[in-house]
Amino acid sequence: MVEPVLSLNDVTLALDGNAGRVEILHGISLDVAKGETLGLIGPSGSGKSSLLMLMGGLERATGGTITGLGFDLSGMNEDALARFRRQHMGVVFQSFHLIPTMTALENVATPLELAGATDAFDRAQAELQAVGLAHRVDHYPAQMSGGEQQRVALARAAAPRPDILLADEPTGNLDGANGEAIIELLFGLRDKHGATLVLVTHASELAARCDRVIRLSDGRISGDDALREAAE
Ligand SMILES: Nc1ncnc2c1ncn2[C@@H]1O[C@H](COP(=O)(O)OP(=O)(O)O)[C@@H](O)[C@H]1O
Ligand SMILES: [Mg+2]
Repeated sequence: MVEPVLSLNDVTLALDGNAGRVEILHGISLDVAKGETLGLIGPSGSGKSSLLMLMGGLERATGGTITGLGFDLSGMNEDALARFRRQHMGVVFQSFHLIPTMTALENVATPLELAGATDAFDRAQAELQAVGLAHRVDHYPAQMSGGEQQRVALARAAAPRPDILLADEPTGNLDGANGEAIIELLFGLRDKHGATLVLVTHASELAARCDRVIRLSDGRISGDDALREAAE
C-alpha cells in the first residue's frame, strides 16, 4: 500500500477545563491516502473540529500517534509544526481566523509571501477572483459577511497549493451558488494538484462527493463507508 498522507493510530484527546478533565476523542485510528477526499460527519459536539485540529498539529493528542506525510507530528515542537503546516497544509477553521488588521488581499498573500513567492499579491488577487471576491480585496474581515470571510479563508488556504487541505464546514456559511463554487475550488485542488482533502461537513451534497465518509459519535468513529461500494 502507498504510504498514507495522514495516519492516526489509537489517538485520544482529553482537555482539562475548569469542570475537570473532558475526554473528547477515544482511540481514533484512521489512514488517509494521497489524493483521497475524506468527509467527516457527525452531530455537534461529536469531536469533528477537535479531530481536524489534531490532524493539523494545532492541538496535541493526549495519546496515540499521528503522522503526516510520514513525519511524526507528536514528536515535533511548535516551530517544526508551524513549518510543516506552512510547507504542506492549508487549514480552514470553522471561525475563519482571518487576521483582522489585514485586508482580504493581505490575508491571502501572507502565506504565499512566507512561502517565498515573489508574485504573492498577484496570485492572491487571482485566488480571490476565483472565489468571487475580486470586488472585496481591499476590505477588512469586519467589513465582510460571514460567507465572504469564509471564502477569503478558503482562498488563503488554497493559494499555496497545499498537499493536505483541512477544512471545517467549508460551505457552512455559503448560499447555493457560492457553495457550488467552493466545492469546485476544493475538488480542483485535488484534481489539478493532487491534494488530499479532509472536510468536516453537514452538507449532504458535499459529503456525497467525498471518496469516503467517516461518522463520529461521542468522540469515536461510528461509521466508515470506505467499503460502502464493496458492500452494495
Ligand atoms: N477547549 C475545550 N475544553 C473542553 N472541552 C472542549 C474544548 N473544545 C471542545 N470541547 C468539547 O469537545 C467536544 C467536541 O467538540 P468539537 O470537536 O468542537 O465537536 P464538533 O466539531 O463535532 O461539534 C464537545 O463536547 C466540546 O464541548
Ligand atoms: Mg465543529
